[in-house]
Amino acid sequence: MKMKRTLTLIKPDDWHLHLRDGDLLGGVLADSARQFGRAIVMPNLKPPVTTVQAAAAYRERILAALPAGSAFVPLMTLYLTESTTVEEIARARASGFVHAVKLYPAGATTHSDAGVRDLRSCDAVLAALAECGMPLLVHAEVTDPAVDIFDRERVFLQQVLLPALERHPALRVVVEHITTADAVRFVSQGEDRVAATLTAHHLLYNRNALFQGGFRPHYYCLPVLKRETHRQALVAAATRGSPRFFLGTDSAPHARQLKEHACGCAGIYTACNALELYAEAFAAADALQHLETFASLAGPSFYGLPPNSTRISLVEDTVAVPEQLERGGVALVPLRAGETVGWRLLD
Ligand code: NCD
Ligand code: ZN
Repeated sequence: MKMKRTLTLIKPDDWHLHLRDGDLLGGVLADSARQFGRAIVMPNLKPPVTTVQAAAAYRERILAALPAGSAFVPLMTLYLTESTTVEEIARARASGFVHAVKLYPAGATTHSDAGVRDLRSCDAVLAALAECGMPLLVHAEVTDPAVDIFDRERVFLQQVLLPALERHPALRVVVEHITTADAVRFVSQGEDRVAATLTAHHLLYNRNALFQGGFRPHYYCLPVLKRETHRQALVAAATRGSPRFFLGTDSAPHARQLKEHACGCAGIYTACNALELYAEAFAAADALQHLETFASLAGPSFYGLPPNSTRISLVEDTVAVPEQLERGGVALVPLRAGETVGWRLLD
């Protein structure tokens, strides 16, 4: 019989997470807090978290919803709009709990309608971010309906992000949830001030998953899954021990009935077993020795934070994933529902 491998890592962090609000927040937070020390919390609530004051209140709601005794730390972000002011960036820097500003191109994804139409109209804010070293987190897709959905990331990088990096030579950027070989190349060939997060689902699946035996809404997220050659480029980037590619689940809960719908919501729920899924992707690439850099070291280093001081362990095992979860009274269908995952987190 094959020996079951075990793996001990510095406790990882999630550098891109949707926690939502209200009952759902209380429900999903425990899943993340079990595995991760900290998370960069996305600001795309309704209404969006556009001010430090709103971020402070949201942070209090998160802390109040944590399981008793949890040491999980939410790292807050602000939602960039064309009315965000330079003074708000100064307040964010001074707050100590706002760690980044998120750019959603208007209309690109869930709750992005308050986002940015023309990034050049935010140049004063980008200059303020560059000045204080706070990263801009980017949903890197153009929204022009004339651009094919599978090309939107590549076109955004060339037409929007590259010029912005040229206009702001000190701006630090995280390209969030990258999905293409083009994005891997963009980050690898860029300067040290450019990094990227990768989700577990984009490392494990290509776009065929959306159409396996019928349409599968629980594999639908934005940016949408891409073809296999892109998935392979993402795995290669994540698993080589680079300090510029790190873990960001983009776990994005939507009620089951809103995903199984005529106009289904974009978002995949992975918070319940994210680390196990990443371990599976790294094991498949024979690169478990690089999981700690990806999950626990590269992110803190880019954000200027120390790594966590505790450790977690994983063991190779076959673990069933429930068909459905109930979180805060909401039915969620996690990635791999009704199937198995190849690793188990030891409590
Ligand atoms: C996210 C959500 O639901 O908030 N959805 C998704 O498909 N990833 C938004 C986002 O990160 O694009
Ligand atoms: Zn997201």
